[in-house]
Amino acid sequence: MRVALLVTEYSNNRAMMQASLVKIHSLIRRRYEEAVMERVALAALGRQVSRVALGTWSMGGWMWGGADERSARATIERALEMGIDVIDTAPVYGFGLSERLVGEVLESLGVRERVVIATKCGLVWDERQEPWRDSSPESIRREVVASLERLKTSWIDLYQVHWPDESTPIEETAAAIQELVDEGLVRAVAVCNYTAEQVDRFARACRLDAVQLRLNLFERANLPVFEHAHERGMLTMAYSPLARGLLTGSMRPDVEPSDAARRAPMYHGELYRRHLAAVEQLDAWAREQHGRRVTHLAARWLLDQPSVSMILWGARKPEHLDAIDGVWGFALEEDDFERIDAILDEALG
Ligand SMILES: NC(=O)c1ccc[n+]([C@@H]2O[C@H](COP(=O)([O-])OP(=O)(O)OC[C@H]3O[C@@H](n4cnc5c(N)ncnc54)[C@H](OP(=O)(O)O)[C@@H]3O)[C@@H](O)[C@H]2O)c1
Repeated sequence: MRVALLVTEYSNNRAMMQASLVKIHSLIRRRYEEAVMERVALAALGRQVSRVALGTWSMGGWMWGGADERSARATIERALEMGIDVIDTAPVYGFGLSERLVGEVLESLGVRERVVIATKCGLVWDERQEPWRDSSPESIRREVVASLERLKTSWIDLYQVHWPDESTPIEETAAAIQELVDEGLVRAVAVCNYTAEQVDRFARACRLDAVQLRLNLFERANLPVFEHAHERGMLTMAYSPLARGLLTGSMRPDVEPSDAARRAPMYHGELYRRHLAAVEQLDAWAREQHGRRVTHLAARWLLDQPSVSMILWGARKPEHLDAIDGVWGFALEEDDFERIDAILDEALG
């Protein structure tokens, strides 16, 4: 009896000690992360925000082989714990699902005020879930109402036109969004996937605070648009920073990439094999030169571009975010950029 009591007491103490250790560990971890997360001014909102935003396309499931809502919720919670305070979403991500998950998590944690919600308009879909572009004022008006409802909020911090729509003059789209700003439904405005000329046209008709475009080590065509927007004082946001997973080293030649990735030629045939080889070589160099991995290098390469304000880290599992810790505390110098380009030239031919 006495032995049984001692064992119980011992187990209780041990459990308590373990719980305290977990708590202390998580507090230290949180402080460490908060201290190192780089931040940037989002002038339109009068605040600093994290230079890594959570990207929620893949957690919506569409073009990514389906959604796991539990894992998606845990990912949003983990991002907030890490000090990420910008969440990029869109109605079309999971046809409402991604926005709904973001809204539910922010509401359940009571942190709506603390987080910048960046959602989009201009991509709508039919009952077969076939999306198309529509940035007409009527569509935007309908879309904003639906987004506010799914996101469980009365305002959108950053409202972004998802793609240019050739059937609507840019000025009409811009005027419709300016109305939403004037009404207080939208606080800051961005455009995605616009050329430099389209950016200027939009900016003449509506306040324009940010641009969002694809940019990563392998896909650099938009760099001049980033420079153009940066020179005009806009916040610049790079999407697909990890080349849809390719720059994490987790892709294999025998495993089919997601539908989202398969649209680009670099995920096919010989080109795909060469890119995978380039990733391996970059990984080896990052380890040797900086004690980091290719994922950290890919993020750092973007964050150290003078014209890049923020990267949108796509994640649908909490562990996808672990690598963010390793992005801070080192920087790339001129000769690092040159060496990276030499590795890519050699591997890609
Ligand atoms: N405005 C636009 O037109 C536009 C277009 C595209 C994206 N975006 C935004 O930008 C965000 C990011 O872009 P993205 O989702 O295309 O690509 P990404 O960030 O380059 O890649 C995201 C994917 O990489 C994999 N991944 C992430 N971290 C990983 C890690 N540490 N280890 C292994 N794999 C990891 C995951 O794929 P698996 O789950 O398959 O492993 C994840 O879904 C999107 O979520 C969206 O918010 C905007």
